[in-house]
Amino acid sequence: MGLFERLEDINVRPEPFERYTAAELWTDDHISEQMLAYHLNTDLDVASRRGSFIDQSVGWICSKFNVGVGTRIADFGCGPGLYVNRLAKLGASVVGIDFSSRSIEYARTVAAKEGLTASYVNENYLEFETTDCFELILMIMCDFCSLSPAQRAALLRKFGALLAPGGAILLDVYSMNALKQREESVSYEFNQANGFWSPGKNHVFRSTHKYEDVGVVLDKYTIVEAKRTRTIYNWTQHFLPEALHREFGNAGFTQQELYGNVTGAPFDSRACEFAVVATRSR
Ligand SMILES: C[S@@+](CC[C@H](N)C(=O)[O-])C[C@H]1O[C@@H](n2cnc3c(N)ncnc32)[C@H](O)[C@@H]1O
Repeated sequence: MGLFERLEDINVRPEPFERYTAAELWTDDHISEQMLAYHLNTDLDVASRRGSFIDQSVGWICSKFNVGVGTRIADFGCGPGLYVNRLAKLGASVVGIDFSSRSIEYARTVAAKEGLTASYVNENYLEFETTDCFELILMIMCDFCSLSPAQRAALLRKFGALLAPGGAILLDVYSMNALKQREESVSYEFNQANGFWSPGKNHVFRSTHKYEDVGVVLDKYTIVEAKRTRTIYNWTQHFLPEALHREFGNAGFTQQELYGNVTGAPFDSRACEFAVVATRSR
């Protein structure tokens, strides 16, 4: 293929959620090392939110959901256990699920060092199965937005099956205000972001595609190295509160409360994110 055809191929606009490459973003040996450093940087809201936010969030979660000794909690996409280990420290019985073995290893090491009863499952959360049930299920930092409508529907059904009677889901999402701030663009960079994608020489083509009618943005990265070329599709679904309400409703969650974020801040219709607490009627 000539360079022109190759570049045409790189710039192709796929259908929304045509490919799911989250594992390549989060589990690659080199990228996951960069991600872990971001998770653990307590001053940045990258990969995980800053430490002060997480402390505040865990405080609110504990009072809102009456978390105490033995409260069963599952954290989907737990990363290096920043919420799980804090909740376990308060006596809750917490399981964290994440497919990044680097993050899970870090989380387990901290839990062991601090003598916490947190448990960790190194698995794709879309495939996670258990006979346990939970009073609270968490999915924090808008990971729900990276999933296709079919994946979200299946995950919400799974959440429903895993919840103990009276249990709740807490998750956060991007709003339509965040969509307004995104623009289509194309760029090329050599060794983008100081070698974020690869330790060796690499050429990165990034194209941002906006699907206004369905509220989706794709950041597509084609990373060209001497011996391999990868394309990573980073999808973001943006939500109107009514649309999220419908998705939860379709999965049997009849009651939903909206918040500004997972610290329990009041819902703000002008903000770029919001959080939902969903429960099923008893
Ligand atoms: C934005 S980070 C948030 C981490 C954590 N919730 C926090 O706020 O500190 C998303 C996390 O979800 C994990 N993840 C994404 N897709 C996943 C999947 N399909 N199965 C398991 N883990 C996944 C990533 O490895 C990453 O740790």
